[in-house]
Order: sequence, then C-alpha cells, then structure tokens
Amino acid sequence: MSHESPTSRDPAASSRRLFLGAAAGSVWTGMQFTEAEGMGQTAPAAAAEQAGAGTPANPRLFSFIGGDVGEWRVRSITAVTGESLPAAPRLKVVAGAAPALSGSTDTPAWVLQGVTSNERYVTRPEKEQLVAKQAAIGRPTATHAALIPIRKSAAWWTLTQDERRSLFEEQSHHIQIGLKYLPAIARRLHHCRDLETKEPFDFLTFFDYAEADEPAFNDMLAQLRAIKEWTFIDREVDIRLVRDR
Ligand code: HEM
Repeated sequence: MSHESPTSRDPAASSRRLFLGAAAGSVWTGMQFTEAEGMGQTAPAAAAEQAGAGTPANPRLFSFIGGDVGEWRVRSITAVTGESLPAAPRLKVVAGAAPALSGSTDTPAWVLQGVTSNERYVTRPEKEQLVAKQAAIGRPTATHAALIPIRKSAAWWTLTQDERRSLFEEQSHHIQIGLKYLPAIARRLHHCRDLETKEPFDFLTFFDYAEADEPAFNDMLAQLRAIKEWTFIDREVDIRLVRDR
C-alpha cells in the first residue's frame, strides 16, 4: 500500500474545496438502480432533489468519499500506475455532491466525483450481450468491491473517436474480456472529464462481487492491464473494499 502525500494532481486540494462548498447529498447504497442501460444508469429521482436552494442537482453525479465513515471498509489502496491516494479507513458512496461539512473537523482524506453517462464505444451486438449478462451493483451477496480511479494520457485524448474505438476493442478486446466475468462482477462507470470541478482522474470504475469471485476479478484485471488500451493509462489506483455486516 502506498500513502504518498497529496500534490496538485491529487484530489485532496480540489476535493476539499468542493466538499466544503457542496450541497448536501444522500447516502447511496447502490440498491436503487435499474440496470436497463447497463453502465449508463441514472441515480434515482430522489437523489435529484438533494441539492440546496437554487442549485440544480445532477442525478447522474456520484461522490466517493474516503474518510472515517461509510458503508465500505477500505482493505487496501494500491498505486498501480502513477501516484496513489492518501490512506482512508472507510469509503462512503453518495448520490450527488458530497455533503457539506461546514464547521466540522471531520474532513475526509479525499473526495472523487464522476457522472454516469451514455456509452461511447459499444456496438449494438455488444450492447445486447452486455444487457443480457450484466448484474446490478448492490446485490446483497456482493460483499466485496473495488473502486479503481483511472486517468488516461494526453495521447489518448488527442485521438479521434474511431481511433479510440479501434484501440479499445479491435486491438484490445476490453469488452470481450469483461463479458467473460459477467454476471459475477457488477460494474458502474463514472466519467470525470466534463465536470465543473477539476478532477484528478478521467474515470471512476466501481465493481462489486461475492468474496468467492475475487480471484476471478483479479484474473480479469491481469488480462486488462496487459492490453494495448492500458498503455494509455497514466494513473490507476486500486482500492479494495469490504462491506461491514
Ligand atoms: C466486469 C467486466 C467489464 C466489462 C463487461 C466492461 C465493459 C466496458 C464497456 C462496454 C465499456 C465501454 C462503455 C462505452 O461504450 O462508453 C467500458 C469502458 C471502460 N472500462 Fe470496462 N469493463 C469491465 C471491466 C473493467 C475493469 C476491471 C476496469 C478497470 C480496472 C474497466 C475500466 C473501464 C474504463 C476506464 C472504461 C472507459 C474507457 C474510455 O471511455 O476510454 N473496465 N468497459
């Protein structure tokens, strides 16, 4: 486990600013999703009402708060590529912005934000295979989880859409690898690039699974980390979680 100090690319600085200024959010267990759209699900309507006066809520926004509270106990934080994140004993997942803590000394170690979105790369046949096999985040048996924030390099973002699709699937088989592990592994993808706040990662990937499926999850990760798409990842942190009973 690596616990390097925050830097300007670290979420701590920008996230604390966000955290203190944010509207109150509601605690999110993941159970209320409908899975019809796979990873592009929206948060429940109730979450859309969480914002303060005059602040429009984004129903697709999620906050991942590393600190002293939350439904997930952090088992490990491992820097796979680039800088790690500061240590935090627990993770709280919130639909919407992180709750304001004005006047509180209970400042979290970090807050990461992302929005669920439409799919960019899947073809119709791939989408049909995904929808047929995938499970929703939040199954009672899914006592284990992983939050894996990822940043891709400038070289990736200067490519065109067709070049990225080719790298993602034809040259890397990301979807074909992932499909083998459904429905044991449930996933939700959050995008960070287009938020108003400056976020330290481009994606927040979140997975949950039964304890017995962790070896399969690790097997999938080993395959994905060897594909061409992954050579464009310049920061990846692997955060493993377990739900308290
Ligand atoms: C559980 C099996 C998995 C499946 C079925 C799967 C499937 C997919 C699909 C279909 C997309 C494209 C969504 C779109 O069209 O925009 C995607 C994107 C992505 N996945 Fe996975 N995936 C899996 C596992 C993982 C894992 C383990 C990671 C990270 C360690 C990961 C990281 C990502 C990232 C970062 C993207 C966004 C790529 C981009 O837009 O540049 N996936 N995944």
